[in-house]
Amino acid sequence: MPQLDLTEQLKSPTYRDNPYPILEDLRLKQPQYLQTYENGARIWFLTKYDDVSFVLKDSRFIKEWRSLLPEEERWVSGQREPAIFQMFQKWMLFRDPPAHTRLRGLVNKTFTPRMIESMRPRIEAIALSVVASLREKDRFDCVAEYAFPIPVAVIAEMLGVPTEDRDLFREWSTVLARFIDLSDVSEDDLARGSEIAHEMMHYFRDLLMVRRVAPRDDLISAMIASEERGDRLSEDEMIATCVLILFAGHETTVNLISNAVYLLLREPDKRQELLLHKELFPTAVDEFLRIESPVQLTSRFVAEDVMIGDAQFRRGDEVNVSLAAANRDPAQFKDPDRMDLRRSPNRHLAFAAGAHFCIGAPLARAEGEIALRVLFEEWTALEHVGEKIDWRDSTVFRGPFTLPLAVRR
Ligand code: HEM
Repeated sequence: MPQLDLTEQLKSPTYRDNPYPILEDLRLKQPQYLQTYENGARIWFLTKYDDVSFVLKDSRFIKEWRSLLPEEERWVSGQREPAIFQMFQKWMLFRDPPAHTRLRGLVNKTFTPRMIESMRPRIEAIALSVVASLREKDRFDCVAEYAFPIPVAVIAEMLGVPTEDRDLFREWSTVLARFIDLSDVSEDDLARGSEIAHEMMHYFRDLLMVRRVAPRDDLISAMIASEERGDRLSEDEMIATCVLILFAGHETTVNLISNAVYLLLREPDKRQELLLHKELFPTAVDEFLRIESPVQLTSRFVAEDVMIGDAQFRRGDEVNVSLAAANRDPAQFKDPDRMDLRRSPNRHLAFAAGAHFCIGAPLARAEGEIALRVLFEEWTALEHVGEKIDWRDSTVFRGPFTLPLAVRR
């Protein structure tokens, strides 16, 4: 079968505007797409639900590609690494056990469903204050002025960083997102990346110092306390964890909220149904996550040879798994392109699965439910201004770049 030129397709404006027909075509024709390179590199792109779920849950598919290199190369590449990559190496997201278990264990307790339940009134108060700041306006940008300020304020409070610094966090996040993406990283990006890595290190080092002297009821103080109780976590690891939580804690939730607003504006009957039956919010949020997954793609490396069906995955191969394609696989979801606010069961993979399953899932769900309810209770007649959605230029993250809304009174 002739190979589809996948890399080009993933970077095309057609894919950015609507990735789903391309993903469907791939799932039908080459669900285990393999690109081989002259230097021997092999990169997979998987689009079937069962394959994606298998890879995410099987410990032979790992994150630390460096561990597959010979010892001396590992060390050399680590030394040459720009500061931003050195920080990524300390993110639990890019680690395997035992380091992954240790890093994750430290913040796990903060994000349990019970802890998040207790935060609901505070999330609601934040959403209401954002609505209040927009009340006099006839138009606003749902992304910058609504979907962004809520999760950033929530995660800043949980971590214990001043919300007033949110413009700084936004800037850091934009740079970090470029590195997470598949897009080519330019020399300028690298320079900017190293600059912000240093800025972030300074920022959090200072804050850690302050919290060591005067602890508060926040995640940073909790991390310091567990370090003092003897859990092994270096200062650099603590800083890297703060940056990851800050980044992961809003970058994706902004997209969940914006995507859901876009979906509900496109289907006013469903918006109406949701407002009449508010008990549907939990299943509706999972359906928004399934149908427009904020994280569309993630990847692993093969630690030892594995067969999936007839396909041989060799040690060292890179495996990209399309969460977006899995979430619309008709073998798993009936009528997958239809938004069904009551869909149940809905075993979507928007938060991935297995060891790296999103730690913030209960928080993201609560923020999504509350932010959407508060918005549509305040404004029953919102309209999207303009014909086309201006989607983010990313193959990993999906969400509108801007979503201008007009308030009809
Ligand atoms: C991991 C999605 C919100 C913190 C992940 C992964 C996905 C994901 C797909 C796994 C990536 C992989 O396996 O390679 C999302 C989505 C969100 C969201 C769609 C919102 C709608 C949050 C929030 C937080 C958070 C609010 C923070 C508090 C994390 C962390 C990890 C993670 C720390 C790494 C977990 C690990 O490696 O063990 N997220 N996330 N996320 N997420 Fe989320």
